[in-house]
Amino acid sequence: MDRPVRVLFVCLGNICRSPMAEGIFRKLLKERGLEDRFEVDSAGTGAWHVGEPMDPRARRVLEEEGAYFPHVARRLTREDVLAYDHILVMDRENLEEVLRRFPEARGKVRLVLEELGGGEVQDPYYGDLEDFREVYWTLEAALQAFRAEARGLQALAERGVRVPQVHWVGEEGLVLAYLEPGPEDWEGLARTLAALPRRREGSYLAEPGFLGTFPLPGREGG
Ligand code: 4NP
Repeated sequence: MDRPVRVLFVCLGNICRSPMAEGIFRKLLKERGLEDRFEVDSAGTGAWHVGEPMDPRARRVLEEEGAYFPHVARRLTREDVLAYDHILVMDRENLEEVLRRFPEARGKVRLVLEELGGGEVQDPYYGDLEDFREVYWTLEAALQAFRAEARGLQALAERGVRVPQVHWVGEEGLVLAYLEPGPEDWEGLARTLAALPRRREGSYLAEPGFLGTFPLPGREGG
């Protein structure tokens, strides 16, 4: 895929959690020089705060971490659902509301904390600044994992490799379980991995039941 990967963060009001996720993800991409590989935005399922800036507490925490950006709240549209590749929501209520309004989002929409094995990002709106800080660090951990996974899968797709199953995601590499390779896919994946720089001797040894690491390209890599 040589167009950018499109990622949309969604919460209820689009003034607390989803703009925080957007700011954090933009910061993580910038750190790796990956801004041009992703298109990022956020939206709310509800319309109460449309046109407003983000909550001052969200702004403050993002500013503390160097992740602030100007934001105007908006509501999720059908066009978003069609245009974005990944719609990452904060809680189950968001998930249900997105699917209720836009059944076509199925397959693209999931809880952002699935990246960390599950759970919900609790609404900090009626909480205090510490609750916003907790949201920040929870989202940062999830989005580090998401960046790694999305980048690795994108790099494989750019090389024409059918996307294998991701077994585990680390900051520097994906561990891929290539479980049911057809002969052509198998060879293609082995060739692709063999052409990549090796992290460890034997990392890309292709055998039935293959489990290998795929290093994540950063600034300089494809
Ligand atoms: P968010 O937080 O969904 O993270 O933006 C909320 C913002 C506003 C309200 C609820 C949650 N509200 O009820 O107005």
